[in-house]
Amino acid sequence: MKTTVSVIKADIGGLAGHVTVPKELLEFAEKRLRENVETGLINSFYVTHAGDDLELIFTHFKGVDNEEIHKMAWDLFKDATEKVSKKLKLYGAGQDLLRDAFSGNIRGMGPGLAEMEFEERKSDPIAIFMADKTEPGAWNIYLYKMFADPFNTAGLVIDPKLHDGFTFTVLDVVEGKEYKMNSPEDIYDLLALIGTPSRYVIKYVHRRSDGEIAAAASTTRLSLIAGRYVGKDDPVLIVRSQSGFPAMGEILEAFSTPYLVAGWMRGSHTGPFMPVPLRYSKVARFDGPPRVVGLGFQVTDGKLIGPVDLFDDPSFEHVRMMAARIADYIRRHGPFMPHRLGPEEMEYTTLPQVLEKLRKRME
Ligand code: F6R
Ligand code: MG
Ligand code: MG
Repeated sequence: MKTTVSVIKADIGGLAGHVTVPKELLEFAEKRLRENVETGLINSFYVTHAGDDLELIFTHFKGVDNEEIHKMAWDLFKDATEKVSKKLKLYGAGQDLLRDAFSGNIRGMGPGLAEMEFEERKSDPIAIFMADKTEPGAWNIYLYKMFADPFNTAGLVIDPKLHDGFTFTVLDVVEGKEYKMNSPEDIYDLLALIGTPSRYVIKYVHRRSDGEIAAAASTTRLSLIAGRYVGKDDPVLIVRSQSGFPAMGEILEAFSTPYLVAGWMRGSHTGPFMPVPLRYSKVARFDGPPRVVGLGFQVTDGKLIGPVDLFDDPSFEHVRMMAARIADYIRRHGPFMPHRLGPEEMEYTTLPQVLEKLRKRME
């Protein structure tokens, strides 16, 4: 039987603004998921948060895009909003729930999701990455490093099981169309697309030798659904590891440089992507910097074993310090580009309202 890993997340209310998720919401989600284990709908779960995003990680046997599973997650977010977020007057209660009624699939309704289904190997380690204050395209450079860059992933060169390369499925979020690009031979074309992470987003990575799923990322762009600024999309990512996939250490190596990503304050700024342990999974300075938590699990007989907090390690401390220094530097630009995002990215923020008011001063 194939096991499905689902990560479904939403910002349904923050504690002290957009900083973190309060324990009351985490407890509500845990209780609800426990009930769903008891009824047999799901097999196992882990509830956590990335900044102000509530993250539901769970396994089941129902496959990806399953209506019953998506409805369960949607109802959980809806009920938690009513029973917890609104009652406690949490900030932005229910902010990511952009539709009223569930219509078969949670995709396009506000919450973000990454899902993958696979036949379990003898041992199946996975890593789950969850970000706050950035957009889905933030994973592009990291996925490229993990699966296409031999300077990051030694196995691409050394290990015959990785040597055939990987296929990247890239979504054009504007046209709603997908491209399939093979590494190594298509990497220049791949980079021509994914170097624009606001528009082209890596959705899946598959191993070329046998078509096995290697990574699945969320691609939700809230502003494109709502037509206005409703917070950044705060993406999630599932990556399979070892025995023909990048080793856990090769996956983590990609995060040893805090690359610049879009998001941060008001979803309107470029900033360094800081890898943090769960205890630092709360945004602080200038509502950031954008950050990512990583959890490692074994998927065993349909259940999750773990997690291990992957960035809770001294070898990432200097990365966080580097990110803090980059934050210092880039913040000095204040309202100037390229710290503030360019006009096409600002279209969905509140800046156009300000510019509109200025029109009367035009001579
Ligand atoms: C970024 C984010 C925050 C808010 C900022 C202003 O994704 O959610 O940076 O944009 O705190 O929030 P409001 O407009 O709610 O006061
Ligand atoms: Mg929020
Ligand atoms: Mg968030």
